[in-house]
Amino acid sequence: MTISTSTTITICDTCKRPDWADRGAQESDGEVLADLIEAAAKGVTGVKTRRHACLMGCGKGCNLAIQAHGKLTYVMGGFDPATDSAADIVEYARLHQQTETGQVPFRSWPQGVKGHFVSRLPVLDGPPE
Ligand code: FES
Repeated sequence: MTISTSTTITICDTCKRPDWADRGAQESDGEVLADLIEAAAKGVTGVKTRRHACLMGCGKGCNLAIQAHGKLTYVMGGFDPATDSAADIVEYARLHQQTETGQVPFRSWPQGVKGHFVSRLPVLDGPPE
């Protein structure tokens, strides 16, 4: 069994929740969530993070993607920029890294990712399915 050495969380750092303007926040919600995810991922083996402007799911922010070479990609959205969300996102990424295909068994999903899946994308070339 070959397991890719890392799973990457790609975080949209330009997402704004619907009430963002009303809150008068300086940072985007995506920046806040990215800060929290980066902090939660620090020292977690096999989990990397990166930021990207607009993943084109703006109406469902905060958005991110869980990706690894040769594995299923999961796009998620609708996150609040909160510490609990960040911790569960990182835990899901850690579990994703531990699988061969990227498919984390439902029974293992952290509570904070449930209801946040937007889409699942197959690997571009070859198995696994
Ligand atoms: S601003 Fe985050 S998906 Fe567009």
